[in-house]
Amino acid sequence: VPARIGGLDDVVIGESAISRVGGATGELAYRGYPIGDVVGHLGFEGTLHLLWWGRPPDRDPPAGLVTALAERRPLAPEVARWVEALPPGLAPMDALRSALSALGGGGAFAYPPTEEQGFDLVAKSATLLAALGRRRAGLEPCPPRRELGHAANFLAMLLGRPPDPLRSWALESYFDIVADHGMNASTFALRVVLSTRSDLLSAATAAVGALKGPLHGGAPEHVLDMLDRVGEPSAAERWVRDALDRKERLMGFGHRAYKVEDPRAVLLRGIAERVADPRRLALARAVETAALAELGRRKPELRLFTNVEFYAAVVLEAAGLPRELFPPTFAIARTVGWVAHALEQTAENRLIRPEVTYVGPVDRRFDSGYALRTPPA
Ligand code: ACO
Repeated sequence: VPARIGGLDDVVIGESAISRVGGATGELAYRGYPIGDVVGHLGFEGTLHLLWWGRPPDRDPPAGLVTALAERRPLAPEVARWVEALPPGLAPMDALRSALSALGGGGAFAYPPTEEQGFDLVAKSATLLAALGRRRAGLEPCPPRRELGHAANFLAMLLGRPPDPLRSWALESYFDIVADHGMNASTFALRVVLSTRSDLLSAATAAVGALKGPLHGGAPEHVLDMLDRVGEPSAAERWVRDALDRKERLMGFGHRAYKVEDPRAVLLRGIAERVADPRRLALARAVETAALAELGRRKPELRLFTNVEFYAAVVLEAAGLPRELFPPTFAIARTVGWVAHALEQTAENRLIRPEVTYVGPVDRRFDSGYALRTPPA
């Protein structure tokens, strides 16, 4: 019997006051503020303040928040040892998902989630990922630096040197752009887990698992693979046509919510224009132009446009990140939105437990041909 669960397009599962996704008009707003204004004006810590407490901070950067994150960045020695003990061949997203679990010692993340737990998750997930990235490169971890903001700290811990201001700005802008996005798959997964009164860390690991898939946050490294395979701008049209003939999906295009251009793609394109290597940028523009033309020609009714992941890949590469770290970097940025949703979910929690229509056989009896056990006399 064919049976499936999927889509849930247009199914409204409840209410949230955190971010508004206007799919038909290409809008995204955090707590009512358009994403373009947020990115231009708030920075990482200010965006966190806005998403968690519903209003921008009254000073930049918000001093208490900066201190709260700085205090929580260092890893306890037993957590650092756990990072060292993870199998070296684990993909970074799997390693991050596993390493996050080590933060829960001593009941630190007991239900219900708190702002302090949120600071811990946001701050330490970045330190963990930087350590995992360095370990992957055969390097010792670098300690956090109190004088740096969150994005610059992540770059410094990962690259082992003071970050270039333009790269820090690019990464901070990326963090802000992907901090939250309505009821996406990973946020939904997080809220389902929390609704059982499980803890924030368990919910975050579930969310990382959901984000990992290429239909969600796993796309950007494949975007760079695609650009590498295309090779030259002049090869873009042919490559795109061949890929679509093979029924492949073009990574970085299409979105469940947006039926016009993803507003995050617009912002990230602008950032890429400032930080990316000109040859990489020219190749990306050629592939984008070819993809939009061919998708528009073959599937006009689907209205497939550039999504957040296409230029995110170009920006993260320009910021100095290796491509296998793109998905977990998305995850550590999204922890801000996840915590906002965790706090909102548990303020008025009720178990999330939908129904499904049973379509299998009914009224069957064990009457022939099966190996059946006889209960003990
Ligand atoms: N390239 C080619 N065809 C596509 C693409 C694409 N990028 N996106 C959708 N389609 C086609 C599908 O093949 C399908 O066509 P078919 O019915 O002829 O088989 C049709 O559009 C509908 O696809 P669905 O998967 O049902 O649409 P959905 O709304 O679920 O798609 C998704 C959204 C998953 C993002 C899709 O556009 C996709 O796979 N894109 C590529 C992967 C990607 O960029 N992921 C990152 C998304 S952004 C984020 O989550 C942060």
